[in-house]
Parts: sequence; structure tokens; C-alpha cells
Amino acid sequence: MTVHIGATPDQIAETVLMPGDPYRARWAAETFLEGAELVNEVRGMLGFTGMWRGHRVTIQGSGMGMPSLSIYANELISTYNAQTLIRIGSCGGMQPHVGIRDVIIAMTASTITSPSSGILKELNYAPCADWGLLRAAVAASEGRNSKTHVGGIYSSDVFYAERPDLDEQMVRHGILAVEMEAAELYTLAARHGRRALAILTVSDHLQTGEALPPEERERSFGDMVEIALEAAFS
Ligand code: ADE
Repeated sequence: MTVHIGATPDQIAETVLMPGDPYRARWAAETFLEGAELVNEVRGMLGFTGMWRGHRVTIQGSGMGMPSLSIYANELISTYNAQTLIRIGSCGGMQPHVGIRDVIIAMTASTITSPSSGILKELNYAPCADWGLLRAAVAASEGRNSKTHVGGIYSSDVFYAERPDLDEQMVRHGILAVEMEAAELYTLAARHGRRALAILTVSDHLQTGEALPPEERERSFGDMVEIALEAAFS
């Protein structure tokens, strides 16, 4: 057990899917896993372990933002020996060709600051996805209903951003979407020699102001979870 995860070491699988929202962890476990068992409820950050097509999988909430994700990813890596960590979450679209409900597979995750900035100091480190997972996720996304985009995203420290000039530069430089966790996940995975990827569903759009209603958020996220599971075990 760790400070934030109450599971015993054998209750966590080597492959962990990490939604930000603990209720989405429960929905994904109930929808996609067989025999899912609750393995963590410390602070309400639910985690479940079950089977998908004969493979053992944990789905553990990460909370919102890089500091929260950093706590869970560090404990999953160091104490539970997680080898493959895939963030499944929502993001805000930033390009005109990116639509609501589209899926984004994040090749890179740019940041201004992250929990790792303190040790990286002046290094403008480029957090990137695991190539094998990325390639497998792209293959798994083919032929699905959801339109998929592969490219760079931005991991923000704030949801309520007040820098239109920064958004403008990111749009100009091809950033597809904004979320709040992937850059730290990629950095931790690199540091510890693990595989990481972020697969996101566009829940709102910064330019059009469109947003998915909360009840639709859950249902339109199914493609993303299946892509993550197929990529993990391909
Ligand atoms: N996650 C989903 N939408 C987002 C947005 N607009 N900004 C940051 N994170 C998000």
C-alpha cells in the first residue's frame, strides 16, 4: 500500500489505464472489464482491476492536473511496478479541423511548467509518447466511428486560462488540443523506463465554444477506452 493507493501490490496490474475522473474509472471498468474489483478508494480516487480479453488491467483515477496525476503515477510505478500507463481523458480542441467527440492520440505534450520542471531546470524537455504504444493506438483507431488525430497537445496547469496570446501561438504551431496531465505522465514514464500514452476525447472546443453535455461525455468515450486496451496488448 502507498499513501494514496490502498491496494496490495498483487491487486494492481502491470497495465494501468488512468482517467482523470474516478467515476469514469468505474464506468470503464464496469463496461469493458470482466470481473472488475474495486482495489482503491482512498480519497474517493477509485481504482478497479479486472480482465480484458484474457489480460489483467487496472483502471485507476488520476485526478485533475499534473500534481495529482504525478502522485498516482509515481506510486503505481514505484510500489506497484506498473509498466504501461495510458491516460484516457478529455481535452479541449484547438484546431478548426478538430471536432467535438474526435479522438486525439498525443504524440507529444508541451508545457510551460510541470511537477518535473523543478528537476529539469533550464532544459526545455520534450515529453513524448512511447512509440510502440502510439503506433498500436493509431492502428487500433482505424475503421472506428470516431475521427482520430495524431499530433502534439498542450498540458496546462490551469483550466481557466487567461493567455489568448499563448493559445494563438499554440494554434499557429499545430497543437491539436489542451488537457492537464499528459506531459507529466510522459516525463515520469521516461524517467522510470515505462511505456506511456495519452488518448483523449474532445469534450469542448476553445474556438467554437461547443461543449459536450455531461451525460454524453461518458458514452462518447467508449472508442477511446477500446483503443487504449487494444494498444496496450497488441
Ligand atoms: N480538459 C477538457 N477540456 C479542457 C480544456 N478546455 N482545458 C484544459 N483541460 C481540458
